[in-house]
Amino acid sequence: MKRTVITYGTFDLFHIGHLNLLKKLKGLGDELIVGVSTDEFNEEKGKSTIIKFEDRLSIVESIKCVDIVIPENSWDQKEKDIQNYNVSIFGIGDDWQGKFDNLKTLCEVVYIPRTTGISTTAIKSKFGFVNRKDLEDLKKSIDFVGSILDKLN
Ligand code: CTP
Repeated sequence: MKRTVITYGTFDLFHIGHLNLLKKLKGLGDELIVGVSTDEFNEEKGKSTIIKFEDRLSIVESIKCVDIVIPENSWDQKEKDIQNYNVSIFGIGDDWQGKFDNLKTLCEVVYIPRTTGISTTAIKSKFGFVNRKDLEDLKKSIDFVGSILDKLN
């Protein structure tokens, strides 16, 4: 019987850690489905990307070991996808260790060791990208200092 593996992620600035994960997951079964987080869903997660959803989807879709790509729109779609696609294994990097154990009633759940020394966040900070959340925090700090200065004046 065909064994289908599913995973989800943002896959911004696609890098070797992403590729290693996808290859390992494909090695666990016969077919690999990847849910790519939409820009709207990333916003909900407080994550902003450099590469827009359509391009991230297209990059992941072109990876040899990936068979099907789907948009990831919400946290709770996983149960439905697992049932609809008759998934045998849900897999994700071990930065999510234990976080999806609730899916064990539907399929096997595996956490794959991350490739060390690389992440989208590290690439972004190396090139000086600042995300929206950091900017909002910075603005709050500036406003706070401003309010103190106003009181002193
Ligand atoms: N991943 C991995 N090894 C890495 C980086 C990511 O195995 N070095 C895995 C994650 O665990 C996840 C998938 O790749 O299962 C997609 O991760 P994503 O969050 O898109 O990538 P990161 O590079 O971890 O991005 P960020 O730094 O923004 O969290």
